[in-house]
Amino acid sequence: MVKAAGMQNKGPGDRRPVVANHIEWMDAHAGETRDYFDGMAPRWSEKYEYEAFRRRLNVFLRPLAEVIPPGSRVLDFGCGSGELALALSDSGYRVIGLESSAAMHSCSSKALQGRDAVMLRVDSGSWSPIELPDGACDAIVSSSVLEYIANIEAQLSEFRRVVKPGGVIIVTVPNADSGVRKIERLLQVVLRALHLGRVINLLPHRIASYLNYILLSINRWNLSEWQRLLASAGFELTETAFHDKPLARISARRT
Ligand SMILES: C[S@@+](CC[C@H](N)C(=O)[O-])C[C@H]1O[C@@H](n2cnc3c(N)ncnc32)[C@H](O)[C@@H]1O
Repeated sequence: MVKAAGMQNKGPGDRRPVVANHIEWMDAHAGETRDYFDGMAPRWSEKYEYEAFRRRLNVFLRPLAEVIPPGSRVLDFGCGSGELALALSDSGYRVIGLESSAAMHSCSSKALQGRDAVMLRVDSGSWSPIELPDGACDAIVSSSVLEYIANIEAQLSEFRRVVKPGGVIIVTVPNADSGVRKIERLLQVVLRALHLGRVINLLPHRIASYLNYILLSINRWNLSEWQRLLASAGFELTETAFHDKPLARISARRT
């Protein structure tokens, strides 16, 4: 296990309108995101018992298999309790899992025990440095994680550093143009204005968990903005899938 040293990284100013002081907000709240996922960790695997959630695995495995052969080194950034990392390992990839939540890291480390896998833990600030040398990975996958990263430019630039030239990244991200996301956006504005803080946790678990998710999932852009961010970070877009869904997939190649 490798634990990166304490990081409260500041990067270039944020230009997008979702939260005016995006990076400062997340520097203050990164601990809340970790606490939130620490709390979710013991039951996160249960989500994969449902077919709708299990489909997440093929959302990554299929496009990856088309471009990256077994034996390649794949980083699962924000690997949660390790379901995708395990499926990647089953498919013959050499896996690196990375997590900021200690509890998620513990679950995924157990899930990958005995495999050709390296499980990293990082103390995230507004983005997460990846304790790997330049060009260490053939691919990065990241399932529903970029929405929590305040300094997205710094994170994508870090992705570019650790992927080999010609390597690929596949990410799933919230699509602000979908109906569900529009409603959630309104809810986020209201919740922020109410400053409910820990009062939310007095509500029934499912409701509290959903409201906390809405507060902490801060990057909710339309697909052209996600594409622009990836292109500016030095990735050539190869595919955008699920345009009409709340969760879209973007694949890109490192130039
Ligand atoms: C919605 S969960 C998705 C987990 C897993 N990728 C999956 O699809 O089952 C988001 C995960 O990202 C992790 N995460 C959030 N911010 C992170 C950061 N800055 N660095 C690394 N991991 C992060 C959380 O701890 C959590 O496990």
